[in-house]
Amino acid sequence: MSSIKDPIRIGNMVVKNRMVLPPMNSNYSNELGGVTPQMIEFYADRARNGVGLLVMEALSVVPEPKNHGVQPMIYDEKFVPGWFNLTDRVHSYGAKISAELAHYGSEGAIGQKVSASDVSHYVGEPVHAMTIEEIKECEDQFAEAAYWSQVAGFDAVTLHATHGYLMSQFLSPIYNKRNDEYGGTLTNRMRFIKHVIEKTKARLGSRYPVMVRISSDEFFAGGIEIDEAVQIAVRLEEYGADAIDVSTGMTASYLFNIRPYSLMPLEGYNIENVRKIKSAVKVPVIYACGIREPEMAEKIVSDHAADMVCFGRQLLADERYCMKILREDGDPIRYCLSCQECLTKMTMGRSLRCTVNPRTGREWLWPQEMTEAGEKKRVAVAGAGPAGMEAALTAARRGHDVTLYEKKDRIGGTLTAAAIPPGKHRIADLIRYYEYMLKKARVKIVTNTEYTSATAEEEKPDVVIFGGGARFMRVIKGSEGGNVLTAVEALEHPEKVGRNVVIIGGGVSGCETAEYFCDEAVEIEYKRMKNFREDIEYRARLREGAHPKNIAVVEMMDRLCADMDEYNRATMMIKLKENGVSQYVNTRVEEIANDKVMLCDTDTGKVFALEADTIILAAGLKPQNAEESYGGAKVYYAGDSGQIGKIIDAVYSGRCIGLHI
Ligand SMILES: Cc1cc2nc3c(=O)[nH]c(=O)nc-3n(C[C@H](O)[C@H](O)[C@H](O)COP(=O)(O)O)c2cc1C
Ligand code: SF4
Repeated sequence: MSSIKDPIRIGNMVVKNRMVLPPMNSNYSNELGGVTPQMIEFYADRARNGVGLLVMEALSVVPEPKNHGVQPMIYDEKFVPGWFNLTDRVHSYGAKISAELAHYGSEGAIGQKVSASDVSHYVGEPVHAMTIEEIKECEDQFAEAAYWSQVAGFDAVTLHATHGYLMSQFLSPIYNKRNDEYGGTLTNRMRFIKHVIEKTKARLGSRYPVMVRISSDEFFAGGIEIDEAVQIAVRLEEYGADAIDVSTGMTASYLFNIRPYSLMPLEGYNIENVRKIKSAVKVPVIYACGIREPEMAEKIVSDHAADMVCFGRQLLADERYCMKILREDGDPIRYCLSCQECLTKMTMGRSLRCTVNPRTGREWLWPQEMTEAGEKKRVAVAGAGPAGMEAALTAARRGHDVTLYEKKDRIGGTLTAAAIPPGKHRIADLIRYYEYMLKKARVKIVTNTEYTSATAEEEKPDVVIFGGGARFMRVIKGSEGGNVLTAVEALEHPEKVGRNVVIIGGGVSGCETAEYFCDEAVEIEYKRMKNFREDIEYRARLREGAHPKNIAVVEMMDRLCADMDEYNRATMMIKLKENGVSQYVNTRVEEIANDKVMLCDTDTGKVFALEADTIILAAGLKPQNAEESYGGAKVYYAGDSGQIGKIIDAVYSGRCIGLHI
């Protein structure tokens, strides 16, 4: 029986284990498309920490179209020295590395869009349908880029034939409307990729591994589904592919590929499809999408559902993850939250970052082993939310004597309530991670204790880190009433919430609270994207025995969840609609009058009332006030107490302060 820890051969490449870092666009390269120290250290770090095979993020085989301003490139010899530095570092840790070769076709954001036909999800933008000569030239460009990859020390190439970029545009009936030898039948739609494999093999030799990344299902009406994906894999093997790496979805249906926490099932959602592909081919098959638990990865390999397993976001969240699987690191796993901050940052053109791992993308600045503090200090951290916990942990790991104070009876702060809404259970794992790590770092934890200036006068710490978080302000007239709860209070004490609920504030916090209290009366199965306008096809079914409350969400702005990433927002809006949550946007709260909330439509000026047993405040956060001073201690403000932000901001600020003192 095979194990994820066993070596495997692909063509002439032997990989020491079956753990794969899949390609993830990082925006770490420079404007010329070259390598940076930031990029080298990101990959070297995963190689040092046990990954067997790294698949380098999409490298463009042409100067344009590009996906973004700092698109990494491999179309010319001039890129070779930079990539060589990177592959050399990866090899020094015994790992192998493949270059994902990509052409963005009609989905490149920058430059002339080209494709099999004039189709793009950038609806209305001009797309040039390639001529036969241009297609043949492009086949040569792929083979040329493969050659430079080999020269640069890559052990293999991975052809990017998934996610709706050029190669998959030829494969997919959504994009390929041709009626010549490159369109129509599957044989014709596969001609482009067949030629690329043949030309690459002719140039590099038959034993140099050429892997192909495909979608098991495009999750798009009229696109490739699993039966056709199986046929594609079988033919790729015939054409000479040495391994099939199986992802899902395409640009327009990224929601289904890189699943956000709101889209169930969240983990292992490609297993049954990949199993079908694996049973149809003899070459190694690589599983991708939604793996968090080592046991699930192990089972994929031991059950022969695939030969290797990708850990994408999980390796952003925990660079030591593979060492933990290999039992060379006994610490708990820091799980990915599927919060999509990484993806959001990347699509905004910013560096790839991670909510739970502030070191991702900063490996070149922050070595894995923290530098010991020159002067050991007595540090008091007031507040055990994400910022306080991270600051305490970092400071303790650097040798400071740290005490963490929390006024509640447990650590976690706002994370405790944040872990309650559907899909957020990984936040509870994050709290457990901190519990373990803080104990290991010998941080003294004092719960049920509010840290005050009097405590500081008595204990005389050198440093106080104030991580008191934020609180919802009760500034609306009537908001001091007994039936008015904050979102945190409501989630922590659901028994206090009545049947008719008005939630004030339609941001993430308000909408997730609504989602939680509507009892998810309706079961929703998300099927696929309907079109490039981003409409989702889904089926909704009333759950038996559900007792939904009457919930209204009131928001000043013109849309709900404006502060949520687009991926989670899409499903959230469907959930609220199907669960019958009333939505009032462009609406101001005038006052709360016992069991009524008086509202004003800011477009029309019309004033109206909503009946409510319970009113939940989910807007108007304000930093908690720290004391004027804490004896003579130097004071730092971490997380929301410095600046209101998301978990990613809180954890980062905690790490920075911990490293600074
Ligand atoms: C920030 C980000 C960038 C990505 N960029 C690429 C890419 O360049 N090429 C590619 O084939 N897949 C890309 N993907 C998809 C991943 O390789 C992987 O298939 C996906 O994240 C699902 O796996 P996971 O749940 O393990 O993260 C990207 C994913 C993320 C999160
Ligand atoms: S940013 Fe969020 S989704 Fe991305 S890897 Fe980190 S925890 Fe996971």
